[in-house]
Amino acid sequence: MKRRKPSYTMHDGFRMPRGFPVEGFASALQYQAQPGDVFIATYPKCGTTWAQHIVYMILNGGEALPPERSVSEVFPHLEEVGKETVAALAEPRLIKTHLPFAMTPYHREAKYIYVARNPFDCAVSFYHHTRGFVKHYDFAEGTFDDFFECFLTGEVDFGDYFDNLMSWYEHKDDDNALFLTYEQMKANPAKAVAAIGLFLGPGAARVVQDSNTLERILHHSSFESMRKDQQRWSSERPHGMPEFVRKGTVGDWVSHFSGDQARRLVEKFSQRTRGTGADELWPDIVEAARHWA
Ligand code: A3P
Repeated sequence: MKRRKPSYTMHDGFRMPRGFPVEGFASALQYQAQPGDVFIATYPKCGTTWAQHIVYMILNGGEALPPERSVSEVFPHLEEVGKETVAALAEPRLIKTHLPFAMTPYHREAKYIYVARNPFDCAVSFYHHTRGFVKHYDFAEGTFDDFFECFLTGEVDFGDYFDNLMSWYEHKDDDNALFLTYEQMKANPAKAVAAIGLFLGPGAARVVQDSNTLERILHHSSFESMRKDQQRWSSERPHGMPEFVRKGTVGDWVSHFSGDQARRLVEKFSQRTRGTGADELWPDIVEAARHWA
């Protein structure tokens, strides 16, 4: 059976959304990270925007990003905009990236927040993203089954899920890294916000220690709040396509995966994570997927 595949632009062997200028990607890799830079690094669809909004609010006294502003202005995506735009940001520079560790601009005194999400839910979220951004991927008619094959082989934008995860997992205990999971953020958002505040330094730690400000941050970063004014997070999608802030749950994979798909992703998960510690990141979900298979 002939499967549909999303369309991408290849940049030095790396798949990128078609709307990303080639020059942006090439120049992004040349950006010289600076002391004080704050990177949110993720594989796509793992909670990037959620973490970006939390960091933005912590550094802005608990104020939400207003409806007329876009997260990409205050927290641009390095690979999309390139090094000049990022270098020109006010300090501390807030930078989003989906690059694996080895390709991400590095400075010992920059900070790196990595958010990981279980690959099952990530695949589902990435599928809806890919069919929704029609101008980037030309995949409006693609099915989850079509997308799953590309996800499993890493033939999607920003490369293989496991290459990205494992490259950052190795650095999870570095002094200038904070490794979080989407599932931890869901289970205990206050703990995640406090951890981010502490990680960002004494000023930020004081912000999250103020209970009123913490409440405000939790309110404005909740799924219900971030569902509002979605023009803040992404360009508009064609009518009938899922919204960017879409479902925001753990376990949506069961509504999309077949038993065979679950088996194959569990197998790849085991191959890529066995004995590294990353195999313990989502024990319940992997166990459930084993049963599903
Ligand atoms: P779903 O498609 O599963 O709903 P990214 O920002 O990395 O592209 O990740 C997008 C995913 O994060 C989407 O997942 C989106 O709904 C979810 N998300 C965004 N804001 C969220 C929030 N405040 N709480 C929980 N999930 C959120």
